[in-house]
Amino acid sequence: MGSKARFSKEILPIILKDRTADQWYIEPFAGGCNLICEVDGNRLANDINYYLMEYFLNATQNNFTPKENYTKDEYKFIQKNKDLKPFETGYVGICCSFGGKWFGRYAGVSQTKQGTRNYITEAFRNVQKQIPKLKGVQFKSGDYRDLEIPNGSIIYCDIPYNGTYSEIEGYSSKDFNHSDFWDWCRQKANQGHTIFVSEYEAPTDFECVWQKEAKSSLSANGVIGGNKVSVEKLFKFSPANVQ
Ligand SMILES: C[S@@+](CC[C@H](N)C(=O)[O-])C[C@H]1O[C@@H](n2cnc3c(N)ncnc32)[C@H](O)[C@@H]1O
Repeated sequence: MGSKARFSKEILPIILKDRTADQWYIEPFAGGCNLICEVDGNRLANDINYYLMEYFLNATQNNFTPKENYTKDEYKFIQKNKDLKPFETGYVGICCSFGGKWFGRYAGVSQTKQGTRNYITEAFRNVQKQIPKLKGVQFKSGDYRDLEIPNGSIIYCDIPYNGTYSEIEGYSSKDFNHSDFWDWCRQKANQGHTIFVSEYEAPTDFECVWQKEAKSSLSANGVIGGNKVSVEKLFKFSPANVQ
């Protein structure tokens, strides 16, 4: 899960450089929480995927531990009955699904060049290591525009990329209005927050503060499993940059 985790050692020092002791770190698009788990102090994670946030909330605050393995029948049952145990649904919908795509193809056991792999038990072990690092995070779910953000926060947005496919959400990002999003960033910056965004391109009032060539698991036509080389970028809202 979470391609940004690959760059956490490079982008977090930039994002957190001027953070003051009690300043909040906010992720309105937290998804699998792979970056926010590497940050400490006051933290708030939000995502539109209610089930996923219920999982993180229950795992960190109510000691919920999912099963190490789920059969295909159990996976299908949970998919059809999402609201029976929303917190378990949030876990299963990602960790038992191929490529971490929200309720995509059942992951299960696969024969690979490296031998037999059980993606579900691998995901279980990874998530068990992640959960302790998320203790103390506040979890919310909803649209980013409805999120209440403490004054003077650092906001990092790992949005669905323009023209690709969201592994977590499983929908084409054409559903996400990028122009509304950039306006929301400007509005938040005017309110005194510091804004960082991961995207391939941004309007000119956003300055590219880091970039790196990387292999993406998304192919050019947006299907998981491709090997597209792309330039990952981090932008910071810098109105002085407008030409
Ligand atoms: C690129 S993923 C974030 C991945 C994350 N950084 C991680 O560590 O896994 C983008 C996330 O944005 C969420 N999302 C899409 N539209 C949203 C909206 N309108 N408000 C809040 N979250 C949204 C998706 O559910 C998805 O989890």
